[in-house]
Amino acid sequence: MAPRATTFDYESEFMLDEWDFQLTTRIQFGRGRFESLGEAAREFGRKALLVGYRDRAGLEPAYAKASATLAAAGVSVTEFFEIPPDPDAALGKQGAQAASEVGADVVIGLGGGSAIDAAKGIAILAQSGGDLWDYTGANPDSRPVAAALPVIAVPTTAGTGTEVSPIAVFTHPDVGTLSKHPIKASISSPLICPRVALVDPELAVGSPRGLTAACGADALGHAIEACMSRRANPVSWALAGKAVRLVVENLAAAVEHPDDPQPREPLALAATLAGAAFSFAGVVMTHAIAQALGGVLHVPHGEAVAIATPLSLRYNAGHCVEQYSRLATECGITAASREEQATAFVERIVGLLQEIGFSERIDAKGADADALADELAQSARESTPVPLELNPRPIDQATLVELLRGMIG
Ligand SMILES: [Fe+2]
Repeated sequence: MAPRATTFDYESEFMLDEWDFQLTTRIQFGRGRFESLGEAAREFGRKALLVGYRDRAGLEPAYAKASATLAAAGVSVTEFFEIPPDPDAALGKQGAQAASEVGADVVIGLGGGSAIDAAKGIAILAQSGGDLWDYTGANPDSRPVAAALPVIAVPTTAGTGTEVSPIAVFTHPDVGTLSKHPIKASISSPLICPRVALVDPELAVGSPRGLTAACGADALGHAIEACMSRRANPVSWALAGKAVRLVVENLAAAVEHPDDPQPREPLALAATLAGAAFSFAGVVMTHAIAQALGGVLHVPHGEAVAIATPLSLRYNAGHCVEQYSRLATECGITAASREEQATAFVERIVGLLQEIGFSERIDAKGADADALADELAQSARESTPVPLELNPRPIDQATLVELLRGMIG
């Protein structure tokens, strides 16, 4: 067959020239958009399951407002406020039971990534049965999601991007080969892409500094990794490149001034753009290490991404000169050569993560460093094989162990 003629001069060899991109979520963005939750839910029926955190600290006004706007639209609400950070997969069953008992037409996730992912898991089990491990990619016997209730996502943090993604992450005890550690692994299905994302930047105003920093680091990771990924494409680049710039320009200000609404809006936009980008471009070794840190050491996800980012940027530097220099240009960083510009980008990101309070070291909490490095590497490979495959520079298991060993302080 003759080579396919191209009529478009792709800007760079690191982007695919054949690719898919689909975004099924209707994004309703802007300050005050949360008020339209009732109206949005009413499109799907008259009964909603509202999924939220067990610890409502700081979110009471949002939960009260959600109930009020739903009631005003004639939607009856059943509250399932049982979600802890990093929800255990077993909660999906409890939530699905609650949804089935009331005949919920729609599941609403209101909170950070854990609450929204829990809503997605509940939406699956309420329609498809089984348990969440049945649909998890890391399960060799996984099966596709057959059906799911519609999900509405209302993020109260600017981080995971799960409000626009077909992905949900859960913690699974007793499934990995490292029997004493749970693994964190994802379900991916277009059926759990939220039908509506109400992205209201006001919901994050006043979030504590540490939470703001961690969520921002997660969004930054998604954006940079989507650009580094071997599955990067022109659409994901357009979204993620802009997201990187918005985080670099606004995250430190949001951490410094938690009550200032100004930086919250670009950060909310960045998280959503990055979520859409990585849904199709994927993430790389940064997130593989982060998932292992979450599963083995219970490091909160955003903090884990922040710890892993400098190592990943440096390890991949020789394979990502063009990507980093382009991102540097997005961020207004100039230098005499592309190589110097790429180096300056890495320094800028590492400096930002330090400035907002993150370390590059793994706290072993007294564990044997060699054994811990082995466990982390095994957990990363087991729970997140795809991000390791999408890493621009190949990484074998021995190298991963060595890199992790070097991070353990
Ligand atoms: Fe993430």
